[in-house]
Order: sequence, then C-alpha cells, then structure tokens
Amino acid sequence: MIEVPVQGGGQVQHVATTQLPTAHGVFAVHGFRDGRGEEHVALVLGTPEALLADDAAAPLVRVHSECLTGDALGSWRCDCGDQLLAAQRAIAAEGRGVVVYLRGQEGRGIGLMAKLSAYALQDAGADTVDANTSLGLPVDARDYAAAAAVLRHLGLRRVRLMTSNPDKAAALRAGGVEVEQVVGVPVPVRTDSARYRQTKVQRMGHLPPVGPRWSGERAWEALLAASSHSGADDLADDLPDAHADTDAAASVLLERYSPLATGRALVIAQVAQSLDGFTAARTGDAHYVSGAQDREHLHRLRALVDAVVVGVSTVVADDPQLTVRACPGPHPVRVVLDPRARAPLGARVFTDGAAPVLWCTSSERAEAAAQGVAGRSHVQVVGIDVPSVVPAGALERSRVVTTVLRALHDRGFGRVLVEGGATTVSAFLAAGALDRLWITTAPVLVGDGVPGLRFDGADLMADALRAPSRRFVLGEDVAVELDLAAARASSASGTS
Ligand SMILES: NC(=O)c1ccc[n+]([C@@H]2O[C@H](COP(=O)([O-])OP(=O)(O)OC[C@H]3O[C@@H](n4cnc5c(N)ncnc54)[C@H](OP(=O)(O)O)[C@@H]3O)[C@@H](O)[C@H]2O)c1
Repeated sequence: MIEVPVQGGGQVQHVATTQLPTAHGVFAVHGFRDGRGEEHVALVLGTPEALLADDAAAPLVRVHSECLTGDALGSWRCDCGDQLLAAQRAIAAEGRGVVVYLRGQEGRGIGLMAKLSAYALQDAGADTVDANTSLGLPVDARDYAAAAAVLRHLGLRRVRLMTSNPDKAAALRAGGVEVEQVVGVPVPVRTDSARYRQTKVQRMGHLPPVGPRWSGERAWEALLAASSHSGADDLADDLPDAHADTDAAASVLLERYSPLATGRALVIAQVAQSLDGFTAARTGDAHYVSGAQDREHLHRLRALVDAVVVGVSTVVADDPQLTVRACPGPHPVRVVLDPRARAPLGARVFTDGAAPVLWCTSSERAEAAAQGVAGRSHVQVVGIDVPSVVPAGALERSRVVTTVLRALHDRGFGRVLVEGGATTVSAFLAAGALDRLWITTAPVLVGDGVPGLRFDGADLMADALRAPSRRFVLGEDVAVELDLAAARASSASGTS
C-alpha cells in the first residue's frame, strides 16, 4: 500500500488496480481509500508514458463527485450524468486522460437523503442554494483533497481540468497539482436542469456551461457535405459519432442519416402507409397519410440524394413538387417514370423550374413528349426501352428499373430515392435494386384504398423477406428502415 499525503491533510491508500471495459474504451481502474475511510476510483486511459510525457499537452482530467441520481439513474435534474459521459468521451477521443470519481460527495456533499429533501423543496419553488440553506445544510460541502492525492499517486503533476467549478481547480492547485487549463464540459441543454445550471452560474460562481460542439444544424450541414461527396471512402471520418459531443437533435440526425450520407451509390425508397397497409384513400387522395415529422424526414432523404424517382400515377394524383422545403438542403433532380407519357404537361414538376426534371418515357413516345415540353429548359426527356407487354409484368418492370437506374448512373446520379407510389417502389424492390427501404406507418385505418408494397411473395413465412432493421418514432408515426443490401449480402454468403 502506498500512502500519498497531500497539502490540506488529504491522503489516500491505493487498494487495487484492474481493467474496466466501457462504451468509451477499456480504462484501467484504480481503487483508493482516503483517511476518512471513503472509497474513490480513478479511471485511467493511456499508458503512464503517454500520460506523463513532458513534451505533450497535459492530460485531460475530470474530478467527478458521485451523484447516484445523475450518474446511475440517468436523472436530468442535474447535469452530472451528462458531464461524466462527456468527460469519458473527451478522454477517449484524446486517447488518454483520467476521471477521478469521488465517492461520499453525494448532493454536493450533503448526502443522498438530504439531496432528495432539497429536491422536494426545489419542487416547491426554491433554487438549489436556498433549498440547502433552508435545511440548515451547506451549499457545497465537497472536499477535493483526495482527488489531488489520487492524481499525485498516479504521477500527474499537470492537468487540463474538465470542469465549470473554479473550486476544483483551486483545490487541485492547493493539493500540488498544476491546472494548466480549465476546459469546459460540453453537455446537452436540458429543460429539466436549466434552472439548476443557471443557479450554479449566478449564485455559486461556476463558469457558464459549454454547449456541445455538434448542434443539430451543424450535424445536418456535415451530413449534407458528406452526401455531396458520394464515392469517397473516408467520409465517415468527417462525421462525429451520434453519441459524441452532440446535442439531442444532432444525435438523432447523425444516427438516422449517417449511413445514407456516407454510403456509396445507393438506392433507397420511402413509403408512408396506414396501419392497414394503404398508401392513399381509394380516390387516390394521399394528403396526408403520415404527419409533419415524417414529411420532414422525407425532405431530409430528398436532400441527401442526387435524384428522386416517382411513378407517373403519383404525378397525376398528387402533382408533387419533389423539392426540399422542410429542411435546408439542395433539391434533387426529379425523375418521372412514365413509359406511356401520360403525365399532364401542366404538372408542377414540368412548370415550376425549381430543379431539373428527367421525364423517362418509352423511346417511341420520347419525341412527342419532348415537343410537349419544348422551351422548358429544366425538363429533359429520356427515351427508355420499354417492353411492349401491356400491362407490364414483374419481369418487364424489373427491366425498366435497370434501364432507368443505368440512365441515372450515366448522368452521375448514384444516390437515388424512389419516393412512390407503392407500384413504383414495388418494382424497384422486386428488381433487387433497393439498398434501403423506409416504411412509415401512421396510426390511421383507411379500410380500402391504394395498396402498399406488392411483389411476388413467399409461400412460407420462413421464406419471407427479412432484413436488419432500425426503428424511429416520428411523432405519432413509426418509421422502419430495412437494410436490404445487408440482407442480400448475408444471403449471398449463406449466413441468413
Ligand atoms: N403514401 C405514400 O408514401 C405515397 C407516395 C406517393 C404516392 N402516393 C399515392 O399513391 C398513388 C399512386 O401510386 P401508385 O402505386 O398507384 O402508382 P405510381 O407508383 O405512382 O405510378 C405507377 C405507374 O408508373 C409507371 N411505372 C412505375 N414503375 C414502372 C416500371 N418499373 N415499369 C414500367 N412502368 C412503371 C407505370 O405507368 P403506366 O401505368 O403508365 O404503365 C405505373 O403504372 C396516388 O394515389 C398517390 O397519391 C402515396
């Protein structure tokens, strides 16, 4: 046992060292007991050489006071849990650093039961300072001498301290540890802890909170930038992990859209349907199947692709614009799949000039179609070979899918969203052309209407098409994303 006396009377005994695998990496964990019998731990990342190198920046250190409610129970009344996670992430990002976790400091040193009593007073309107004092307790009874002793035991004489509490920096300096820099701890802004954080700044001299580096807005910009460089291999490196230094909005966007933004050539599809599986009412009315959050999701998908494809019946029924309006982002090229050239010439996509349009029609009808849109510079007619079988069967439709995708690839449009209707999405699905399929289900029953996906199915459930999935709640709707490319890869390798 090694005893490390420090100025101010703090002393610790080293008890044990072992490994702690965590979500943020494998830390060495050192256990200590102080002179009052309290037990503390230090989570250490990096070798002693890396931590103590004189020619490198001082290592990041967090001195964290135990908070059962915030750290273990996930409470948002305080920012302790968020701070602990942020510190571990920051240390993991640098590859070295230390979290000194001080026990016996619950509720800024007043103990768990007193903290709960103070919370009850806060529920009745008191702030965190007045709640403590009206219970006859100190506002902050913590003591960081043990933390300085732990750091000295580890050999750390200079640190960059992650804190907003100037008392911690002062205590470490008094304990013989040089604080070269005070680094803010980036934590999400939460309504539940907003007043508590404000009181710490206004009445306890804490530094103002540091926001996370990645806001939703910034994360979205990064996703757009990554998608506009489709084809590069190292794009994932430019995007942060969804759970690292991000606010809640950034985290959602990164988790949901990183696979799309960083994927290579990619064909995805999106359909919104009722609980009983219809994409529109029997009159063809689809305004609106799903809610506002699903509309925003659809616009984000549009913004991340080069081209958006719709079948002609959707143009006839909905007269859609197919532009990006519910979020920032570029409009995709709009593709109308219309072998028989029956889209109305007055359709908005043909008249609004908002973004280029490719009108894909059979080669025989292409010339007449081109005459119909003459002078509309944003519209280009693309003649495609369409099998003459009427009505087109699954095989013919698959051939059309291949032809259209080739035409898009030839024009440099590798990232494609097939947006509907279900007939068109089904044709792409049956052709094995979809990498990812998003289906949003809304809590509504239509009874009878335009059906959802239809394709040659399986006789047995065991043979039904299954794929790895992700699920997202969009207001009242639920969006499920199927990773069809992964399902194909695993069935090709015989692992499914
Ligand atoms: N809820 C949603 O997410 C959503 C989205 C979009 C649309 N909608 C609704 O769905 C309805 C329209 O959808 P829908 O499924 O009936 O039709 P659709 O998919 O919009 O259009 C189907 C038509 O496009 C042509 N087509 C598409 N793919 C083809 C292929 N691979 N090969 C040959 N031709 C192809 C065919 O035209 P021809 O018939 O001329 O051969 C086909 O009949 C509308 O009521 C609309 O409001 C709902």
